[in-house]
Amino acid sequence: MSGDTPAPASLSPSWDANLYLRFADLRLRPALDLMGRLDGALAARAGHAVYDLGCGAGNITRILAERFPTAPVVGVDSSEAMLAKARTQTSDLRISFRTGDLASFRPDASPAILYSNAAYHWLENHLALFPDLVRLLPPGGQLAIQMPRNHQAPSHALMPVAAERGPWRERLAGVRGIAPVADPDRYWDALRPHCSALEIWETVYQQPLTGPNPVAEFTSGTGLRPYLDALAEPERTAFYKVYCELVGEAYPRRPDGTTLFPFRRLFIVATR
Ligand SMILES: C[S@@+](CC[C@H](N)C(=O)[O-])C[C@H]1O[C@@H](n2cnc3c(N)ncnc32)[C@H](O)[C@@H]1O
Repeated sequence: MSGDTPAPASLSPSWDANLYLRFADLRLRPALDLMGRLDGALAARAGHAVYDLGCGAGNITRILAERFPTAPVVGVDSSEAMLAKARTQTSDLRISFRTGDLASFRPDASPAILYSNAAYHWLENHLALFPDLVRLLPPGGQLAIQMPRNHQAPSHALMPVAAERGPWRERLAGVRGIAPVADPDRYWDALRPHCSALEIWETVYQQPLTGPNPVAEFTSGTGLRPYLDALAEPERTAFYKVYCELVGEAYPRRPDGTTLFPFRRLFIVATR
């Protein structure tokens, strides 16, 4: 676990880049699905930058740089652990990384694209931020957001249940997990007045996992982190074991050894 200081205006916990990247392939697919809906016309014009908001370890930032081969690409994140990893992964001078809080993000160059994969759900008031982000774009610029919307699934609903089931109950009482992502129509209503075009969709990915506690391992890289951060050993391991048992029952291993972990994600592409 890293010693990151949480961003003041968000619920962001500590981040472990290597643990997060353990499921890099599965986490990459929605990032590419979102990227596939972007229009490169504005990014191809001089003077416009592409931003990767909540860039984490920078693996998507590098793909954005390939997709938009002439634009400066700027990764922004509040986690020094993630940014440290990101900076070791590229020597491309067109890509830069900077520390910043998404709650108060402002671009320092004209943005062709404000892209964000799996980051804004850590900000409680993210819905209120999106219209302002669209207004930062020049005409034709795009805001592209992907957020997990799995908080009602057992993987996430069982986190507070495990928090209640042990002597750690009081220590976990104040822990807030990921801010629930609202129904798609709420984002539509908030964004439509500010866009020339708006596309919103959801996909449920049937993720095939392997190993003894694969769902717990997956969430321990993201959504479970605020709970793990709040406990010291040996309670941390004991809490994790209870959570593993609960999610193990909810997501049984199939006859071929695979554990299917359905995961819902919300996508937004708003064009100014
Ligand atoms: C689940 S990771 C996603 C990383 C990357 N976008 C990807 O898809 O691989 C979420 C990232 O959002 C960042 N984050 C969360 N809250 C943030 C905030 N308020 N400001 C900046 N970054 C934030 C975290 O530090 C973390 O790197």
